[in-house]
Amino acid sequence: MQICESKTKIFALQTNFRRDGASIGLVPTMGYLHDGHMELVRQARAACDRVIVTIFVNPAQFGENEDLSSYPADLERDLAMLETEGVDAVFTPPRSEIYAADNETIVETTRLSRILIGRLRPGHFRGVTTIVAKLFNICQPDRAYFGEKDYQQLQVIRRMVQDMDIPVEICGVPTVRESDGLAMSSRNVMLGKEDRLAAPVLSQALTAAEEACSNTNITSRTLDKIIRSKLESQPRAQIRSIDIRDAATLAAIRGIITRPAVALLAVSFGTVLLIDQRTLTPLSDKP
Ligand code: PAF
Repeated sequence: MQICESKTKIFALQTNFRRDGASIGLVPTMGYLHDGHMELVRQARAACDRVIVTIFVNPAQFGENEDLSSYPADLERDLAMLETEGVDAVFTPPRSEIYAADNETIVETTRLSRILIGRLRPGHFRGVTTIVAKLFNICQPDRAYFGEKDYQQLQVIRRMVQDMDIPVEICGVPTVRESDGLAMSSRNVMLGKEDRLAAPVLSQALTAAEEACSNTNITSRTLDKIIRSKLESQPRAQIRSIDIRDAATLAAIRGIITRPAVALLAVSFGTVLLIDQRTLTPLSDKP
């Protein structure tokens, strides 16, 4: 496994891969890897000849009062996990390699980045699309893998690729969960003991919503109420947002759910913001 800190080195490596006729799968990460990331790697490994993983905690996607400085890191452990999974190359650039002091170009989806999590975290998705576009240019993958847990991020990246004619296939990978249902996330390690015990309430609330979708004529308001009451039953959970949206466009759904929807949750436990999602198929759309 090759470890590259410079753009020149990873660029030369991917050029060699391509010259050999190999397809490239890219897994962009911010490190502190868990089994959710490993699932992205495994899917990339299965579909592509070469796999490149990037590890870069991207300052541009963190707001001023967010957890950039406390974001967990353990590069040695990450590299050992990636080696075991048969990754070909890891790109771990220092910040100066990615953002020059006079950097002034951004990439942004103008609607999708400003709704939902984008309202809670202004500028976050602009930071994501800018870094992902840069990583695509540097690593030139055929396919790139992102978790469905970050559902809005996945839709934002799909939109960017479509609008900018970027020749990369975006592959969404289902959320990997702990045995108690908590979606795997690098942030879980920041939860205190009590909050960690309380956090599975997100997946329980989503399961309640999913079950309610087996009733006909379920409305977005009823789903919101079901989710809210489950989350409110856990005093440690501070609801930041509950949204029932069209699964493809993320447009708001009013009234009866007649097409595939997605429930998106953002819930804080102390200072740690967790998100989770579930796609919901109305009874009329079930096979
Ligand atoms: O999902 C993440 O870890 C990050 O947002 C990403 C896609 C690696 C961009 O920094």
